[in-house]
Amino acid sequence: MDASFWHRCWENNTIGFHQDSVHPFLTGYLAKHLSSEDKRVFVPLCGKSLDMFWLAERLEVVGSELSDIACRDFFADQGIDCTPYQEGEHVCYQVENIALWQGDFFTLMPSSLGHFDWIYDRAAIIALPKELQQRYVKQLAAYITTNTKLMLITLEFPEDELSGPPFPVFKADIETLFSGFKVNAVGERQLTNRQFAQRTFEVSYLTERLYIIEK
Ligand SMILES: C[S@@+](CC[C@H](N)C(=O)[O-])C[C@H]1O[C@@H](n2cnc3c(N)ncnc32)[C@H](O)[C@@H]1O
Repeated sequence: MDASFWHRCWENNTIGFHQDSVHPFLTGYLAKHLSSEDKRVFVPLCGKSLDMFWLAERLEVVGSELSDIACRDFFADQGIDCTPYQEGEHVCYQVENIALWQGDFFTLMPSSLGHFDWIYDRAAIIALPKELQQRYVKQLAAYITTNTKLMLITLEFPEDELSGPPFPVFKADIETLFSGFKVNAVGERQLTNRQFAQRTFEVSYLTERLYIIEK
């Protein structure tokens, strides 16, 4: 999936991955595991996810998103004014404790964004084809320091029943991609015959799985 694919999705408003409510793993898992020490969360490939407003009630939020439409609409949909500014190759959309860095995730400099206590990946790794996932994880790993917890949500379904995105990612894939990290599967949602955000997939099973990944 190259950049033009995603820009087209946003231009044509074909964003079936976008959820109109907060992800249940945030309210069900993260709400119970946040500590008072936790200050900042990074959201790679963030789209205009409403999850970021939930996160911003608790943490400072930094997002990375390719599409200027997504960044603009994230604030505009809530009636919030935002005047973006250019910073190198990226454009920053910042209001209060939410900053969205518009541009290519792969050219963001992790060191310039500071330390994150949490990273939240919902529909990011699964949006990428297999050949890009390794590159994504290599880049993501640069944000994972000793005290960072990566909350990563995957989707499992029979590979040959749906051409992505989304792409299925299984436990064995996660263990290979994150070899050298501590990987714990901590939650699961059965979505068979149910909606995945705004989309319905004709697949024989559909499972969302939550991992916590640490150094
Ligand atoms: C499936 S969507 C998920 C969005 C969001 N995480 C959510 O839960 O709604 C994937 C997003 O990644 C963005 N994206 C794709 N490639 C990217 C890149 N190289 N850098 C930054 N964002 C990217 C797309 O524009 C799209 O908004």
